[in-house]
Amino acid sequence: MDDDALLAEQRAYYRAGAAEYDRPYAEREDLRELLTVVDELPIAGDVLELACGTGQWTPRIAARARSVTAVDAAAEVLALARARTASPSVQFIQADVFEWRPPRRYDTVFFAFWLSHVPPARLPDFWNAVAAALAPGGKAIFIDDGPAVAAEEEVLTDQPVPAALRRLDDGSQYRIVKVFHDARTLTDDLTALGWSVRIRPVARNFVGVTEPPAAPGPG
Ligand SMILES: C[S@@+](CC[C@H](N)C(=O)[O-])C[C@H]1O[C@@H](n2cnc3c(N)ncnc32)[C@H](O)[C@@H]1O
Repeated sequence: MDDDALLAEQRAYYRAGAAEYDRPYAEREDLRELLTVVDELPIAGDVLELACGTGQWTPRIAARARSVTAVDAAAEVLALARARTASPSVQFIQADVFEWRPPRRYDTVFFAFWLSHVPPARLPDFWNAVAAALAPGGKAIFIDDGPAVAAEEEVLTDQPVPAALRRLDDGSQYRIVKVFHDARTLTDDLTALGWSVRIRPVARNFVGVTEPPAAPGPG
């Protein structure tokens, strides 16, 4: 697809920048505050966490779940997540979210700061994959940057998909996919796909709780 090169560069960015990833969580009070939102969310049962990164959310989810399966493409961030998460109920898997298909279904699928990295053309397939990963009655829960955060990014306007330029401490530069979803449009788009949706703003972020369309009955 048009976005393959960008997605590869995005994976490379998070691999190369793993050691720098946690810095905003250490420095920004609003992010530390945002992490506590987990305690208000209907996280339950067996949880699939997509793009878990360095595991900022994983131990908090594990405290509310029967089990957590946390997936990320980058071995470097997974090493940090493993070090942070000493729980026998958490399993980490290195895999590409766009290709990996879970071997079972989950009560909750959770993803923080991942939806904005999914190219718009891949969203219908992505939501279908999330729906397929959910057990009956399950919920998808997501957290991401709202449009106000765009002012802090080096937005790139000449790419095949919405994108931004990120820089690491060594001066290296990487293009990443970055879609600043507006809660209303996202609600409309998901509703059109048959999901029931509640999205609420939390400071400059948003938190979504969604349920997929009912699976067609037999016959
Ligand atoms: C913005 S970080 C979010 C990490 C974590 N969820 C958080 O909120 O701190 C995005 C994560 O997506 C991962 N990632 C990028 N492309 C991926 C892919 N194709 N499949 C799985 N993970 C991917 C990166 O390695 C990175 O850890």
